[in-house]
Amino acid sequence: MTNSTTLFPLRPAVFAALAVLSAGCSQESSMPTDTPAPAPPAALDWPALQSAIAADPQIETRVAEMLGRMTLRQKIGQMIQAEIKSITPDEVRTHYIGSVLNGGGSWPARNKQASVGDWLTLADAYYTASMSTDAADPIPIIWGTDAVHGHSNVVGATLFPHNIGLGAAHDPALIERIGAATAQSVRATGIQWVFAPTVAAAQNPRWGRTYESFAVDGALIRDYAAAYVHGMQGTLREDGKVIATAKHFIGDGATELGRDQGVAQISKTEMITTHAQGYFGAIEAGVQTVMASYNSWTDPAAAIEYGKMHGAKALLTDALKNAMGFDGFIVSDWNAVGQLPGCSNRQCAAAINAGIDMIMVPDDWKAFIENTLKQVESGEITQARIDDAVTRILRVKLRAGLFEQKPSDSAFAGKPDALVHRELARQAVRQSLVLLKNEAATLPLKRDQRVLVVGEAADSVPHQSGGWSITWQGTDTSNADFPNADTLLSGVREQVGSERVSYSADGSAIASSDADVIVAVIGEAPYAETNGDILSSFTLAHSQRDPADLALLQAAQASGRPVVTVFLSGRPLYVNDLLNLSHAFVAAWLPGTEGKGISDVLFGSSPDGTAVDFTGRLSFPWPGNACPERKDSTSLFEVGQGQSYASPSTAAPLPVDIPDACGPATALPIFNMADAAPFALEMRHQEQSRALGADLNAVIEWPAESPALRVATVQMNTQQDAKDVTWLAPASLVASAGSGSNLNALAHAQAALSFDIRIEQAATAPVHFEMRCGERCGVALDLSALLQRFGVGEQHTVKLPLACFAQHGVDMGGVNQPFGLIAEPPFRASVTRIRIVASAGSDSDAINCADLPLIRSLRQP
Ligand code: BGC
Ligand code: BGC
Repeated sequence: MTNSTTLFPLRPAVFAALAVLSAGCSQESSMPTDTPAPAPPAALDWPALQSAIAADPQIETRVAEMLGRMTLRQKIGQMIQAEIKSITPDEVRTHYIGSVLNGGGSWPARNKQASVGDWLTLADAYYTASMSTDAADPIPIIWGTDAVHGHSNVVGATLFPHNIGLGAAHDPALIERIGAATAQSVRATGIQWVFAPTVAAAQNPRWGRTYESFAVDGALIRDYAAAYVHGMQGTLREDGKVIATAKHFIGDGATELGRDQGVAQISKTEMITTHAQGYFGAIEAGVQTVMASYNSWTDPAAAIEYGKMHGAKALLTDALKNAMGFDGFIVSDWNAVGQLPGCSNRQCAAAINAGIDMIMVPDDWKAFIENTLKQVESGEITQARIDDAVTRILRVKLRAGLFEQKPSDSAFAGKPDALVHRELARQAVRQSLVLLKNEAATLPLKRDQRVLVVGEAADSVPHQSGGWSITWQGTDTSNADFPNADTLLSGVREQVGSERVSYSADGSAIASSDADVIVAVIGEAPYAETNGDILSSFTLAHSQRDPADLALLQAAQASGRPVVTVFLSGRPLYVNDLLNLSHAFVAAWLPGTEGKGISDVLFGSSPDGTAVDFTGRLSFPWPGNACPERKDSTSLFEVGQGQSYASPSTAAPLPVDIPDACGPATALPIFNMADAAPFALEMRHQEQSRALGADLNAVIEWPAESPALRVATVQMNTQQDAKDVTWLAPASLVASAGSGSNLNALAHAQAALSFDIRIEQAATAPVHFEMRCGERCGVALDLSALLQRFGVGEQHTVKLPLACFAQHGVDMGGVNQPFGLIAEPPFRASVTRIRIVASAGSDSDAINCADLPLIRSLRQP
């Protein structure tokens, strides 16, 4: 089915967008005027666009002159973007590097608490280095950062609601002000370039980046993208502005089943009317850079397979640059070039030839330079393509005034105050909230009520902020990492006075409370790309993914008191059961650091007495089905819905239908970048154990006194997805859970325990693989012969049929440790993508049980 990723039928808004668009299009659409039902529109084409930042002949002349004086090595250096953890200022100088970035959760000197001054000092150091090369014309470096909801990697910065909340606010002027405020925050740290806005149109809430998307419809995104870019860039010549990026080109929100980095299977018309709209708005507003996307695109109607966007010349060069007239530069995404066929993170002519101008090659930049040099010398990449890429980069640097201003020259540079925009963010929070239910005028709350607040999220800035907040996934932080912030709990206390507020994070105080009303704050724990995806076999029911939230609301309802639920989430989820348990229900998205924006609206006025009503309206449909891909699936609330105090309405109890799963479990995830609940990766040594935890920056040596294991985070398939484990003493790396999982269905489906492994240092002693089904139940098999066949540095996917364990007595009805590597030094390996995959046990590359000698079998008594 071609449109299986589109959960919702084409809405009138889409047709409106189409009509507006076709007016400015090179190819007219043929909308019939005299028939009642509109026929499907003719295929559209990429429109020619006019940028607000016009070509400047003086700049073009200067670029051409400089280009003429550059060596090939200097040109290739300009095309490189390295990560601050992997490059020093002096290397920037000697290699003529054009750009650096700090990834999500990367800070100067790896110091999470780095001050504005620390950031600025490093920015000046890179800048000065870039201006001290021996080139005829030294070229200033440009630093890029993911300030995706405020300057989100920097301690003390105000974090605005993520884009999904801004979409609900429906206020382009607000978005423009947020773009401008973010630009000033970024300038405070000396950085001149932001990888935002994301202009994706997320079509399936399973996608873990849904919250980075403003809306499901292209038309809104077009307006917001333009406003954001305008606020962030201005004319580029005023102080306090930075270069913006429209990302990720193109179709990242269209992938099948909402899979991150997946395949969009849609027509060109749908790509243009929905997913390209943000680029149109951003380019017209003058956006200077576009980031290519990890996803692929197949247009089934036209039988065109574009493949991965980083290699798609038809889109990067023909559509974006030539047809739409984009004259800035295209940056690749994090190590994304390595995903193209024939490429690695160390070389990729195909991406450059397709139109990538700057390569985000965080770690392997040295090899990338040398290999690109050879590819130009051999003719695999033309000089003309290199010249075009460098022309674009120099053009943008000149337009942005980088040659005239070092980072510390900005009036905002080094000013901690420039990070702080609390009133603006609080206003944005107020405008972003969507009231989905309000029975018996439970809201607004009254100032003389005694309030019991429940839920851990009520007093958690990390929960309010979600992913891309100090750390990449938004995990491994606490309120202490957000010094300029207020939780919702503090907002409630301010409204009614602390003496009238009690707080019970786990809800244990509900039964004994004498409060007049309960405010329950629940929702999703932080996540970001890939990690946040909800697999297609899982339902969208929040209560299934987080049973503790359900239990909390059940206890609250049982108390007989009015229950106000504030739902923090990165996407609309199935919550029929939770709505039934609540008298009032507020979709609060991921509001960021200003939790008091929520309490303002819950009480109907800010503490100074200004009246506030709910004005937020859904920019995404809200699912009424726990399995939204089902044929009969309908939305519970449509785009545009949202109640207010001014126009109250009542709601009947909702039907609740939560199946165990949305489809046959085809895979059970165990670990991929992060633990998949209920499993957790842990180290074991003698009688001790320790979980690896969520910190992707940590290098763990454990136990501290005399380490048996060293574990660091590395990349195998996607960013920071793998653990690099060195054995320093006999020890094991296991994935285990508190209770057993029933794998019988998977075992019957010929499943295999599968994982990716790269041997970093070969073992000389045996390596065993252990699966356990309780204290006294388990099997260890010898992996040695298998691992010896793998060369050091090669990556392999190992598939161990569950049958090999079952035949020796593992009880598949209760597996509590599906994975365990037992080894001793010397041995070092990187592992990830640990999972159980149906039918993989019968794949031709599955391991034969005969090649897995039994070491021991423990059977239950
Ligand atoms: C980095 C993130 C980076 C991500 C790519 C991770 O390895 O920590 O910073 O943004 O990869 O986004
Ligand atoms: C993300 C981008 C981000 C980049 C740099 C990638 O993984 O997809 O959105 O800008 O990392 O951190």
